Amino acid sequence: MASPAVAYARENHPRFLDELKALLRIPSISTLPEHKGDCRKAAESLLADLKRIGMENARLIETDGGHPLVYADWLHAAGKPTVLIYGHYDVQPPDPLDEWHTPPFEPTERNGNIYARGAVDDKGQVVAQVKALESLMAANKAFPINVRVLFEGEEEVGGEGIAKFVASKPATLKADFALVSDTELFAPGLPTLCVGLRGMIYTELEVRGAKTDLHSGMYGGAAPNPFVSLAQIIAKLKDENGHILIPGFYDDLIPPSAEELAAWRSLPFNEEEYRKTEVGSKQLVGESGYSVLERTWARPTVDVHGIPGGFIGAGAKTVIPAKATAKVSMRLVPAMTPAKAFAQYKSYVEKIAPAGVDVDVRLIHSGDACLIPVDNKYIQAATRALHEVWGRDTVFIRSGGSIPIVGDFDRHLGLPSVMMGFGLPDDNLHAPNEKFNLKNFELGITSLIRFLEEVGS
Ligand code: BES
Ligand code: MN
Ligand code: MN
Repeated sequence: MASPAVAYARENHPRFLDELKALLRIPSISTLPEHKGDCRKAAESLLADLKRIGMENARLIETDGGHPLVYADWLHAAGKPTVLIYGHYDVQPPDPLDEWHTPPFEPTERNGNIYARGAVDDKGQVVAQVKALESLMAANKAFPINVRVLFEGEEEVGGEGIAKFVASKPATLKADFALVSDTELFAPGLPTLCVGLRGMIYTELEVRGAKTDLHSGMYGGAAPNPFVSLAQIIAKLKDENGHILIPGFYDDLIPPSAEELAAWRSLPFNEEEYRKTEVGSKQLVGESGYSVLERTWARPTVDVHGIPGGFIGAGAKTVIPAKATAKVSMRLVPAMTPAKAFAQYKSYVEKIAPAGVDVDVRLIHSGDACLIPVDNKYIQAATRALHEVWGRDTVFIRSGGSIPIVGDFDRHLGLPSVMMGFGLPDDNLHAPNEKFNLKNFELGITSLIRFLEEVGS
């Protein structure tokens, strides 16, 4: 592996880690309005670094009302392919705070990991990309291929700004493939490319009963209770076997091929281990007849994220609230579309709504599922680079999570994506004590360097 860029990365690793920590200290929580300024700060800090390492045309691109995109390019490798490098600088809210062993925005090293909100999702991986670029430029005074960078700050809230920008097919995004680092290895030390993601629709259900809150003794038994109605609606979304009851919901689903299923069966996966160490519940649930990997990668599902409203203080209050809401999302798989899934869900909910209440079904955001063909030279170059760095053959997996823009890269720009990420299954994404393994940070940078060199060779 005689790469001067890899040698540079190794020598500069302590500083790279310090720079990651600085970015992790910025609480760029995209969903909370009070952190709007922090999102811009994170964007500006990435922008400054891209300028410093020799990227050109570096600028923020404003999105209407949302958080800015970060763009930069370097296009002097005549005759070589162009990569569009993507990641996101926004993070999920850190709550519940009291479950963190160290504060979420004070990055802390512990047993070979760095702990912080955004450590792996996705700041650690964005910094790995930038540091791979820095190493290539510092060691060679040029990149082996043409490079465009596009970072967003709204991925965790649906990515509307970047979606609009990409749909406008700007000349600034002309490229041959996208490199997305926002996924994980299937197991420690096992080089992995993600080739499929679930799509999603994120919705809010609002149920209204009486015109105002009522005394539950005086009116209980006569006035409709929106919480009960909401629970009845939610209970009818899936049956006891995990099968979604919305008519037509499965109509467009394309099942994984026999070869893909066979490949999944040979992955190192132990269901009991997964139940104990990752989930930690006494039993797993879900559609009967499908393995855990099929259920989380290739089947749609419904989840409830929160039911705000009513009385939630300490103690007791006897009230029939006038309204109740629930945050409900669905994960979709190829070739289901968010528009059709939402329409089916909305008309089903309106049909099953109990007597006496009004129901609103609102779409908050949505994104398409994607499935990436693996027979292209970029994926092949990636597996060669990964083999060199990790000493093993790459496994191809799907993920149950969603990265809405990946489908758009294909649809609007015709770009195949290489989803090369370095998280681990137990990294606690979106949860307390999120972490990034420091070895994976380092080998991630090396892998990205070698991948870009391989594509340019
Ligand atoms: N990086 C994740 C998605 C992911 C997780 C991919 C694990 C592969 C493995 C991404 O940041 C994410 O959390 N996406 C949201 C998207 C949604 C809010 C539109 C998700 O999946 O909930
Ligand atoms: Mn992410
Ligand atoms: Mn995320």
